Amino acid sequence: MSSRSLPTIAILGGTGKEGPGLALRWASVGYPVIIGSRQLEKAQATAAALNTAQDQVTVQAMENGPAARQAAICVLTVVQAAHQAALEGLKADLQGKILVDATARVDFRDPRPPAPPSAARIAQEILGPGVRVVAAFQNAPAHTLKKNLGGALDTDVLVCADDLPAADQVIQLAQTAGMRAYYAGGLDNAIVVEGLTSILISLNQRYGVKTASIGVTGLEKQAA
Ligand SMILES: NC(=O)c1ccc[n+]([C@@H]2O[C@H](COP(=O)([O-])OP(=O)(O)OC[C@H]3O[C@@H](n4cnc5c(N)ncnc54)[C@H](OP(=O)(O)O)[C@@H]3O)[C@@H](O)[C@H]2O)c1
Repeated sequence: MSSRSLPTIAILGGTGKEGPGLALRWASVGYPVIIGSRQLEKAQATAAALNTAQDQVTVQAMENGPAARQAAICVLTVVQAAHQAALEGLKADLQGKILVDATARVDFRDPRPPAPPSAARIAQEILGPGVRVVAAFQNAPAHTLKKNLGGALDTDVLVCADDLPAADQVIQLAQTAGMRAYYAGGLDNAIVVEGLTSILISLNQRYGVKTASIGVTGLEKQAA
């Protein structure tokens, strides 16, 4: 597929730990990618670092609002505490888009599962029916995303959405970024996926790694 036929992806709050790895994986397989930030200069610095680190990758930089308006698919990777305020500020810019919510509201110093509703359900309520919210990547470790660019990662992505065609687009995005991805139910199921992040952080702490992730088994069709 030529990059002209691929949708533009904006990573809103893409200057932190999670956003740049996702940006790099999609840019390296040809997607037009924009790093969004509250500050243009910060987005430019992150984009420049990615473009320098990887030959043949050209990531753009914008403030979050213009980035969202320019993209067909927006991925929200702002810090957990800013989730609601960021969505309220970007509501108008996100109308008509798919919003992929990667938020896992878990404190890594004291990991516990969050209470319902899921972050993605909150996002859908804030943004209204004009935005197709999909929850994904809450369990994809930032430390893993920059590895094996263009190749496969040993991590699965659970994709939750009330809108199945939107979920299918995000499953395809995850697959092109080298991850296995599965539809895992509606937006309310995303609370369980967020809660899994608390388990992954506990595993990381106990076993001294930063890369614990999830894997689904048993989905292959059995021979008759
Ligand atoms: N880190 C991981 O391994 C990981 C894995 C899976 C999912 N996640 C999820 O991904 C999201 C981002 O995590 P992270 O570790 O990348 O966070 P982070 O590095 O702490 O912050 C990400 C970005 O949030 C933006 N931000 C900070 N305060 C803000 C505010 N008041 N309003 C709007 N934006 C604000 C900043 O961007 P600007 O200053 O440039 O605007 C910052 O670079 C979280 O929801 C997290 O649960 C993280």
